[in-house]
Amino acid sequence: MTSPRAGRFISVEGIDGAGKSTHLTWLASWLSEQGIALQQTREPGGTDLGEKLRALLLHDAMELETEALLMFASRREHLAQVIEPALARGEWVLCDRFSDATYAYQCGGRGLDVAKFNALEQWVQLRGDALIEPELTLIFDVPLAVSQARLANGRELDRFEREQHDFHARVRAAYLQRAEQNPQRIRVIDANRPLDVIQADLAQLFQTLL
Ligand code: TYD
Repeated sequence: MTSPRAGRFISVEGIDGAGKSTHLTWLASWLSEQGIALQQTREPGGTDLGEKLRALLLHDAMELETEALLMFASRREHLAQVIEPALARGEWVLCDRFSDATYAYQCGGRGLDVAKFNALEQWVQLRGDALIEPELTLIFDVPLAVSQARLANGRELDRFEREQHDFHARVRAAYLQRAEQNPQRIRVIDANRPLDVIQADLAQLFQTLL
């Protein structure tokens, strides 16, 4: 049985425009209301250095390999400085994107060789003989037409959000493929439903983890 103080590592994913931020904000406050000590954080970013890397990643053109290496460099700092210490203190970590995003965006979207992704994942996340990874990952999924419409009527877009329809279609397909490959860890949430219906689903899912 899990001790009530055991930290839990949860990540939240989705294509740009899927509504991830809205659900994340709701989930964080719902968990806090349940009395959970929560560390909410994000990738790329989550540390001072990671936030500098995020600014580069979101706005500066670069080689694909550079992009993948910087994502994992940010992750390395984040794990060592924020995620692992929080879990050790018994807190929950609610992380806005983690390695599944690299798989979806850099491998799926941009064509990075999966063997390179696997090597970086091992390099950065291996502790002893196990990978540190979320025990639960939510992928908020919407059809491309919905996410593209949301991106079209908003704020200034970053380098990833500005990519074409086909790029986002490949990212979505890679997320769904990753979910199929990891059914115990990854839950795909149909985010093309009313907010209150999605929130009821989340509450039900997280009740089982408390
Ligand atoms: P995002 O999390 O969507 O933040 P916001 O909601 O503020 O726009 O932005 C981060 C972007 O970084 C997103 O477009 C996906 C991209 N990304 C990758 O390409 N690879 C990664 O490994 C990670 C963590 C993010």
